[in-house]
Amino acid sequence: MSQLHIVNHPLVQHKLTIMRNKKTGTKDFRELLMEIGMLMGYELTSDLPLSPIEIETPICKMTACEISGKKLAVVPILRAGLGMCDGILKLLPVAKVGHIGMYRDEKTHEPVFYYCKMPEDIQQRMVIITDPMLATGGSAIAAITKIKEYGCTNIRLMCLVAAPEGVRKVQAAHPDVDIFVAALDDHLNENAYIVPGLGDAGDRIFGTK
Ligand code: PRP
Ligand code: URA
Repeated sequence: MSQLHIVNHPLVQHKLTIMRNKKTGTKDFRELLMEIGMLMGYELTSDLPLSPIEIETPICKMTACEISGKKLAVVPILRAGLGMCDGILKLLPVAKVGHIGMYRDEKTHEPVFYYCKMPEDIQQRMVIITDPMLATGGSAIAAITKIKEYGCTNIRLMCLVAAPEGVRKVQAAHPDVDIFVAALDDHLNENAYIVPGLGDAGDRIFGTK
């Protein structure tokens, strides 16, 4: 069963509070999202397996450890997912990046797919999908389905703020995918926006409204 991990680290919670404030401008919003992406990336990768490696320090030989097994890929859901992707890439600079383009139809709130480009060996990688907002769950479900079509079996979803309805839908559709969030909010409003939320993440990152 899919696990919901809420990253309660004080730094994450403090930065999220600033992001939620409607007075916070585009520059600060974007920087904070990048920083939270990095902090959440630290949590999300805390169980990566290590294997021993023989090295030599300036003093002596030793058995040290390195990350073993499959490599990683980060897949932001455009547009807003880009904001979290940059933070993870600071931690994992050799990770490959795929992109999924999707926007929510304003009336139906259903995701409309418009772009997909994945690394060639994506099926051999652990995939971290990034999208700050998990509202109805429609976009995340469609993105995970798309990535599974490439043969990926190890997928994690990283969001900033989630609505309970969306979490339940993603977990029902993809029980093998763990979800990492900084906050589980109260509910969705009549426009399928997260309450209290932080508004439209894409517009706040890119200054389009
Ligand atoms: C937002 C957000 C998610 C989606 C969440 O994207 O970044 O992708 O809505 O909603 P859902 O869970 O109900 O599917 P949006 O459609 O605003 O596109 P944008 O990132 O291009 O602004
Ligand atoms: N997309 C957003 O950007 N914000 C919400 O609250 C819901 C969907």
